[in-house]
Amino acid sequence: MEKYTPPVNPGRIDDTTAELKVGDSTLQLPTGAGASGEKFIDIRALRRETGYIAYDPGLVNTAIAKSEITFVDGGNGVLLHRGYPIEYLARECVFLEVAYLMILGKLPDDEERQRFSQLMNRNSMIHEDMHTFFRNYPEHAHPMAVLSAMVVSLSSFYPEFEKSEEYEPLDITATRLLSKVRTIAAFSYKKSIGEPFVYPSHRYRYCENFLNMMFASPVNDYVVDPVVERVLNLFLILHADHEQNCSTTVVRTVGSSDANLYASIAAGICALWGPLHGGANQAVIEMLQKIHDDGVPIATVIKDAKSKNSRTRLMGFGHRVYKTYDPRAKIAKETCEQLLAHLGVQDDPLLEIALELEDRALADPYFQDRNLYPNVDYYTGIAYRAIGIPPEMYTVMFAIGRLPGWIAHWLEMKSDSDQRLIRPRQIYTGPESADVASRSAV
Ligand code: ACO
Repeated sequence: MEKYTPPVNPGRIDDTTAELKVGDSTLQLPTGAGASGEKFIDIRALRRETGYIAYDPGLVNTAIAKSEITFVDGGNGVLLHRGYPIEYLARECVFLEVAYLMILGKLPDDEERQRFSQLMNRNSMIHEDMHTFFRNYPEHAHPMAVLSAMVVSLSSFYPEFEKSEEYEPLDITATRLLSKVRTIAAFSYKKSIGEPFVYPSHRYRYCENFLNMMFASPVNDYVVDPVVERVLNLFLILHADHEQNCSTTVVRTVGSSDANLYASIAAGICALWGPLHGGANQAVIEMLQKIHDDGVPIATVIKDAKSKNSRTRLMGFGHRVYKTYDPRAKIAKETCEQLLAHLGVQDDPLLEIALELEDRALADPYFQDRNLYPNVDYYTGIAYRAIGIPPEMYTVMFAIGRLPGWIAHWLEMKSDSDQRLIRPRQIYTGPESADVASRSAV
């Protein structure tokens, strides 16, 4: 396969300009719009022309890139990947097809799908020497810590992709990562419960393989339930990409220093771990479990989440971009209810609590005024729990799903002629000068 160069949408620059008055001078700044009409002001000349910089904590108003991969309309709850609605992809595709779409820009035809699957199988094992790493982690090491360390270690074992200007065929790199991360994830679970690793097998499809590595053991065959396999495919699709979220921005940031793909993705995994981002799925189930175990009234939970004196938030609620129901949460909720029905789980107490909490929050002016709705992390944990996946693994599941998005963004960044080392400014507020003279020697 030839070197892949993803096309980067230049973003339309209007004829109009924005005018910025600073002191006596006026600066004309070009304005433009993206493919779906979102407007921007190009401030690249700001500091050079005026000496001023922009102050924007959390980069709430700042586009760090132009991108062709994913479109989110947060006001209307729309999510498109390369033009395909998430509802279509979730319904019609398996995860590997969506991964292909993210990374290579199109849904695969039969031949491409077959080749991608073959590569996935060929790359599924991890180097035997890496097994010793697992052995040396403490028993209850968080699998996210293990996953990020193992992914950065892949760069030592598979250095072929080390130099950005020497791309190996892209589908090989992508499949190596997608396939090995799944194996590492399952091994980190086995390590945490003290069971021997189950190796991947070419007999199984992608999600089937993962479930088998997680739940089979030398004394127990595991028969994969096709409905569970389908749910897993669907949840990984829901997580496949979400434009410039925290972890993807970290992947781009680390990659902008010319660090290799593995290092960039390992950093993204660490960013994902935080409970305000992907770690929210574990935090949601812990919140629901605590409400259940301690018998906390829902009204108290809502009151605490609203209180300015408490650091408590309603986990799995709210989103930087969505100001309406997250379309992924809608699909996750329906899927979760269907899965529980299929597995014969009647009256799951955590689902009952989640549904009541959602109803009460959505009816509350605090949540209404701030446009706080369930996000993708609110219902996924309940489904994972029903499958038998423990809470510490939930964010790992998110990471497996997000991998195609991280890879796609890393590659897009590399081919973007506007891209520079990501290095923001700051506004220094510390002392102007310290009293060096009066400091005695130690
Ligand atoms: N519970 C209670 N109040 C909330 C919540 C919440 N979950 N989320 C936001 N708010 C409130 C804030 O207190 C703030 O109120 P104020 O205006 O009175 O000060 C207002 O809503 C705006 O919140 P910000 O924190 O400014 O919004 P931001 O866009 O920075 O944060 C975030 C988004 C981090 C997702 C936030 O909604 C949150 O903490 N949610 C809970 C954690 C979570 O579910 N994260 C997963 C997000 S999805 C993902 O990453 C995959």
